[in-house]
Amino acid sequence: MSNPDNISAHYGRQDLLERILAVLKQTGIDPVQLEAKQLYPVDQLHMGGRQATRELAEKLKLTSDINLLDVGSGLGGTARLLASEYGCQVTAIDLTESFCRASEKLTALTGLSNKIVTVQGDAVATGLPDAAFDLIWCQHTQMNIADKPGLLREFHRLLKPTGRVALHEVFAGSVTAEPIQYPLPWASDASASFLISADEMLTLATREGFELLEKQALSNEAQAWWEALLTRIGKAPGGGLGPGLIYGEQSRQFGPNIIDNLRHQRIAVYEMILRRP
Ligand SMILES: C[S@@+](CC[C@H](N)C(=O)[O-])C[C@H]1O[C@@H](n2cnc3c(N)ncnc32)[C@H](O)[C@@H]1O
Repeated sequence: MSNPDNISAHYGRQDLLERILAVLKQTGIDPVQLEAKQLYPVDQLHMGGRQATRELAEKLKLTSDINLLDVGSGLGGTARLLASEYGCQVTAIDLTESFCRASEKLTALTGLSNKIVTVQGDAVATGLPDAAFDLIWCQHTQMNIADKPGLLREFHRLLKPTGRVALHEVFAGSVTAEPIQYPLPWASDASASFLISADEMLTLATREGFELLEKQALSNEAQAWWEALLTRIGKAPGGGLGPGLIYGEQSRQFGPNIIDNLRHQRIAVYEMILRRP
């Protein structure tokens, strides 16, 4: 089973907000006049960064009347991008207290508090009302959640009829005999990582009443994105707005491990759009 303490121990940093604000100031960005896009280098905690978020938003044809739940919203980067660029009303839920605190403050600093509500809670038992959302957005989150049927059941409960689930997620790859190399951005070791294959996820989703609208493999794009990121970090090492600020020293191993795991097909990245009939 997933252990919330394990997850929060991996992501949680007490002084996270203060460190982000300090680096913003060092970079010459005034936190009092902050724009959502100035945080993208640090707040898009998924492969492909802001471009992946925008591509998925375009695929979903997002419009301002969409009421969306961002599940495992992290620092709130996706929520702010979707609210500021597409006008969506977003509820952002995350398990990790320090992420929620930082997310709420950054959202306020970017003037988006009227569009985004931040909730601390567990995606499997959100406590949010039935049929409240048009869209559930789940980006690089379900890897931390062992109870996939419970998660899908909660998504089904929260969606209006014909509502959609957008998954941009990491799954187990086709090579299961080799051990996955850790640490990775979502888990320091295997105890916080619960990977199933994309096909297994689809079988579970169908069982819970969803139909598949679209599925796209994105492992090659994810690998190329990490390779480019490592090149950029290599040219400008040591701090700035980047993964090190969130995850500390262990983040140096993320890129090489992800690339190795993707290259050997131990993990795989997919987007899937599901629909509640
Ligand atoms: C890799 S981060 C991705 C954050 C965000 N989706 C993004 O792409 O920027 C995974 C997030 O999932 C959250 N998380 C993990 N398990 C969760 C759960 N059971 N309920 C809610 N959030 C969870 C973590 O706290 C973390 O913020």
